[in-house]
Amino acid sequence: MRILVVGSGGREHTLIWQLKREVPDAQIYAAPGNGGTKALAESVPLKPDEIDELADFADSREIDLTVVGPEAPLVDGIVDVFAERGLKIFGPSKAAAEIEGSKAFAKALTQKAGVPTAEHQTFDDFEDAERYIRDRSAPIVVKASGLAAGKGSIVCQTIDEAVEATRSMMVDERFGAAGSTVVVEDCLVGEELSLLYITDGEIAFPLIPSQDHKPIGEADTGPNTGGMGAYAPVSIADEALVGRVSDTIVMPTLAAMKAQDRTFRGVLYVGLMIVEGEPYVIEFNCRFGDPETQAILPLMESSLLESFERVARGESLKGTDYRFSRRAAVCTVLASRGYPGSYEKGKVITIPEPLADDPDLIVLHAGTRRDPEGKLVTDGGRVLGVVGLGDNVTAAAAKSKEAASAIKFAGKYYRGDIGYREIEREGSR
Ligand code: AMP
Ligand code: GLY
Repeated sequence: MRILVVGSGGREHTLIWQLKREVPDAQIYAAPGNGGTKALAESVPLKPDEIDELADFADSREIDLTVVGPEAPLVDGIVDVFAERGLKIFGPSKAAAEIEGSKAFAKALTQKAGVPTAEHQTFDDFEDAERYIRDRSAPIVVKASGLAAGKGSIVCQTIDEAVEATRSMMVDERFGAAGSTVVVEDCLVGEELSLLYITDGEIAFPLIPSQDHKPIGEADTGPNTGGMGAYAPVSIADEALVGRVSDTIVMPTLAAMKAQDRTFRGVLYVGLMIVEGEPYVIEFNCRFGDPETQAILPLMESSLLESFERVARGESLKGTDYRFSRRAAVCTVLASRGYPGSYEKGKVITIPEPLADDPDLIVLHAGTRRDPEGKLVTDGGRVLGVVGLGDNVTAAAAKSKEAASAIKFAGKYYRGDIGYREIEREGSR
């Protein structure tokens, strides 16, 4: 079997790792992949936005299945291009990916479907947005409607800060065209949760609940990043809560998408705020989360490939089996000092050999590459994701942290508190 995985981050390394675990003799290609995917997959020098070239590659190499990691090619219609050429691909169409590509669209959809979310308004005009903001109270959240690499949502502590954030998006075009439409919404206070569903457009299966850690600093301080770590499972997301998310959010959303001829097939990432036990949507993504995937897939005991293939063939997921280990996983991201601002690249990475032999440890690469001499060097803000497994989150976090400390490169930075909420809960049980 030949599989193409599009993307170059930790999420893509994890997808490749999982597929290889399921089908050891599969021939996997990574476009473009990173310094870690090379051990499992052949690197293809194509970027995720080179959609026609990727389709040419899939066609000429007779790829059986393509899996797309990042949102941008999905929003740009990679699935439509592949489907037109008869190439099997897992992911939502361009029309369905708009659920992530346009927050204005996603918000309108929640309203139509009666899905719980923060009180909000959408604006195309700065003066209108300013008037609305000055009528509300802080804290308040300002979001660029389009794709802004995870940086487009700003939680503002004062009304003036919110007006300035809106001005920077709508007038100063800080995020280019992505900020010409802005969503302003009330700030929800609670605990965040990521629930990823695999769906054929009608039925949907939740993967094990996980929690991301977006801020750069320990105890969730400082600016937001793409995610500094994640863990699974999350005990507040018990069966009853996941059931409520499925019933009140996911099923109505999928039905509304289908009714608009935008049937969503792929992974629907539901970003939630749990406010006094009740789930509210804060965002939808049209793909796997990064770094949530690094914590989720190592716990998966059933086949992921079977769902990918069924969805890619346009078949129903009815009867598919989703099983997860009863253990826990914690992913600590090792970043380059300076991230999410500017940072240096090209630092030599040393991973002590015994780490590779530890069955409770997985080192997943993100911003890494091999230099011309074959040495592993840093090549991005988020460099590695170190996944520790254990019988509970406390044990998994200790394992992850130990390896995070043992791996060396100049300017290494990581949060030592990934999973702290769950560790506190486990400690008080
Ligand atoms: P988003 O780009 O919508 O995923 O938002 C990025 C981050 O901003 C989220 O992970 C939350 O931490 C925060 N956020 C977004 N919307 C809200 C909201 N309505 N209330 C509180 N925090 C929010
Ligand atoms: N971890 C957040 C995201 O993937 O969007």
